[in-house]
Amino acid sequence: MSDLAGRSTRLAVLVSGTGTNLTALLSAIGSDPDFGAEVVVVGSDRPEAGGLARAEEAGISTVVTALADHPDRVTWEAELTRRLAEHRPDAVVLAGFMRLLSGAFLGHWPDRVINTHPSLLPAFRGAHAVREALEYGVKLTGSTVHLVDEEVDHGPVIAQRAVEIRDDDTEERLHARIKEVEHELLPTCVKLLSQGRLVVDGRHVRIREASK
Ligand code: GRF
Repeated sequence: MSDLAGRSTRLAVLVSGTGTNLTALLSAIGSDPDFGAEVVVVGSDRPEAGGLARAEEAGISTVVTALADHPDRVTWEAELTRRLAEHRPDAVVLAGFMRLLSGAFLGHWPDRVINTHPSLLPAFRGAHAVREALEYGVKLTGSTVHLVDEEVDHGPVIAQRAVEIRDDDTEERLHARIKEVEHELLPTCVKLLSQGRLVVDGRHVRIREASK
């Protein structure tokens, strides 16, 4: 049960890519009666995003708002916000969503927009985190789930897990191992958010004990 409003937390999920994190989230929700959340809408900026097909297969409403169909980012974001809001989400999960969101969007869901990023932040922010970690030669990278603010991959960290880089790694192989970790860490963090257990104090996020 959620303590957001004493009911199941309504989630919007935004995707730009294949949607494996969306699938992991849906299966975590489906297999855990205590999860406290449901995905009420999946949105994308890309009509061809695989995540949309995954949502449709699961019988979830989808929304596509492409930047190219709007005169500017402000209009695009306002339209995305409006179409998501029609589904009355309590929180928004960015599961491989590759666009920056402004304060106008984030203000609708304060401390309730969550992102998964494939590096140990603050290292390797941005769209090429896996490639850049390989190129830099670090031995450890990983997965970070964080609250979203107006800067790229910057908001308060909820949880992180490390993934070792191997000498023979390619970007594809390394990203696949990071995704395995994301597929557990993102649902874990969304569950905590859904249950109202994240306590945000500036850049610090504490996890409150579960109520008995
Ligand atoms: C994930 O690695 C996420 O961290 C990054 O994009 C990838 C999305 O993967 N931002 P998928 O679409 O969930 O398979």
